[in-house]
Amino acid sequence: MSKVLSAVAWPYANGPRHIGHVAGFGVPSDVFSRYMRMAGHDVLMVSGTDEHGTPILVMAEQQGVTAREIADRYNRVISQDLVDLGLAYDLFTRTTTRNHYAVSQELFLGNYNNGYMIEQTQLVAISPSTGRTLPDRYIEGTCPHCGYREARGDQCDNCGRQLDPVDLIDPRSKVNGETPRFEETAHFFLDLPALAGALDTWLEGREATGLWRPNVIKFSKNILEGVQPRPMTRDIDWGIPVPLPGWEDNPTKRLYVWFDAVVGYLSAAIEWARRSGDPEAWRAWWNDPEAVSYYFQGKDNITFHAQIWPAELLGYAGRGDRGGEPGAAYGVLDLPTEVVASEFMTMEGKQFSTSRGHVIYVRDVLERYGPDPLRYFICAAGPESQDSDFTWAEFIQRNNSELVAGWGNLVNRTASMIHKRFGEIPAAGALEPIDEELLAAVRGGFEVVGAHLERQRFKAGIGEVMRLVGLANAYVSTTEPFKLKAPEQAQRLGTVLHVLAQAVSDLNTMTAPFLPHGANRVHQILGGTGEFVPMPQLREVDDLDGGPAYPVIMGDYSATPRWESRPVVPGTPIGPPTPVFTKFDPSVVEEEIARMRGEG
Ligand code: MF3
Ligand code: ZN
Repeated sequence: MSKVLSAVAWPYANGPRHIGHVAGFGVPSDVFSRYMRMAGHDVLMVSGTDEHGTPILVMAEQQGVTAREIADRYNRVISQDLVDLGLAYDLFTRTTTRNHYAVSQELFLGNYNNGYMIEQTQLVAISPSTGRTLPDRYIEGTCPHCGYREARGDQCDNCGRQLDPVDLIDPRSKVNGETPRFEETAHFFLDLPALAGALDTWLEGREATGLWRPNVIKFSKNILEGVQPRPMTRDIDWGIPVPLPGWEDNPTKRLYVWFDAVVGYLSAAIEWARRSGDPEAWRAWWNDPEAVSYYFQGKDNITFHAQIWPAELLGYAGRGDRGGEPGAAYGVLDLPTEVVASEFMTMEGKQFSTSRGHVIYVRDVLERYGPDPLRYFICAAGPESQDSDFTWAEFIQRNNSELVAGWGNLVNRTASMIHKRFGEIPAAGALEPIDEELLAAVRGGFEVVGAHLERQRFKAGIGEVMRLVGLANAYVSTTEPFKLKAPEQAQRLGTVLHVLAQAVSDLNTMTAPFLPHGANRVHQILGGTGEFVPMPQLREVDDLDGGPAYPVIMGDYSATPRWESRPVVPGTPIGPPTPVFTKFDPSVVEEEIARMRGEG
């Protein structure tokens, strides 16, 4: 049993999340965490909304409200979406808590004290017409690395590299197209060159495990070459104050949003511990070198998780070329074990675009189809290791043929035959080879599917579960229990239905990480009571340090069932089953596509 930190990327609180977001970080991290809990590990799954920086300011400006109002509004919207998707966070919080401010400032100071946060001047972009600084995201131009013409001042979406606005060729303001002027201003830079050796050693060690997805390790090693100091403060008035004399009270200098966002993994663990009643409990996931950590995200986040965050941790521990001492408050903190990045998901063949309305929001899918079909699609056809395309046709087809006609049908016909013929789970008589074969094949799934999930191979995992569902459905066709009507066939019928009940029960355990809502329904159809797998809850809590109250996702997952076969109990009453999944009329494909075109 290990301590497993599931560190899930923090969505920006600048709007509702679309299905591409939850395909990248949300569903994969939940399937993994649920599985690891079932396998007996001590999982701590944390995240929250990312509420600082220009993404929030841009939205505030567009809507004519304050950044705080935007953050409050979308923190609530996003938390509701994620809890309804069934994402089982131990804590889903936000970056505007006082706790997060304090932890972020401590990380900054630890790096500063060890000499890894160095003051330098930087050229900052100024709008000639207003005289105000132009945030990175407001500047567009040609990427110096790949020539992409619409690179942003902070990052190129084409090659994924981090940029500074001065790097851009032909920079222009997104607000009015004017060419910004650049002026010198003081900032703190994370001394990445002084940490590059330690980062490289760490990456080499990680590569040697062979466990990282090849694209992620390759990208991470690439971006370490010729690395430069990176500014970790910004000319902006929305963010965490820089905790140094002369800076603290300066209203226009703040920590860079990415500096504080990644600290969220630590601050959320600390907040969780403080709320759990044992304020030091987080240390088991952070100070013990035996603990493991998995960071889930979309591929545009790799730089921050495989370079910036490990660098902040190494600097805080005093483990770069300049030496230093581990920060007194938190000590030596564990580096990421694995950075699990997914690729992008397009939508009906095109990139999502909120501005062009080419987008599918999580909320809309949840309202119209419920959580399971979306979770299923993401696991079976999501952007796990290559870009993937979401189409309504495939979404409906997979739901109808795989969930409804495949798995749901197996559950329903098993339960309804048992209900009609026995009213309770029958005892098995002597097993025939065909019975033994099915039971053994299904039981074998625990090892095969478990191995896939441990390696974050969700597609292979759910594929294997569905293959076993197919075997069980084939068993029904071969044994034809619906034809075993004569009194002298009752014992054979009982055996077949017992075998099916056992297969359904085992398969339900295996589907639970993927389809927790469905697993709870199947559990009840099979005569179980209460929840089979625990679900997360949304609660309103007080800020621990006197800030405003806010919603969090939390949960008690201690009753998580083990990843193993549980013998079904003869005599368990089985009522008439209700359908586990809902079939959708193929006509919704046209409706949804029309809606996306703004005709709906
Ligand atoms: N908000 C970022 C995004 O949506 C992700 C932040 S991940 C964190 O791309 F760890 F830094 F918080
Ligand atoms: Zn580029």
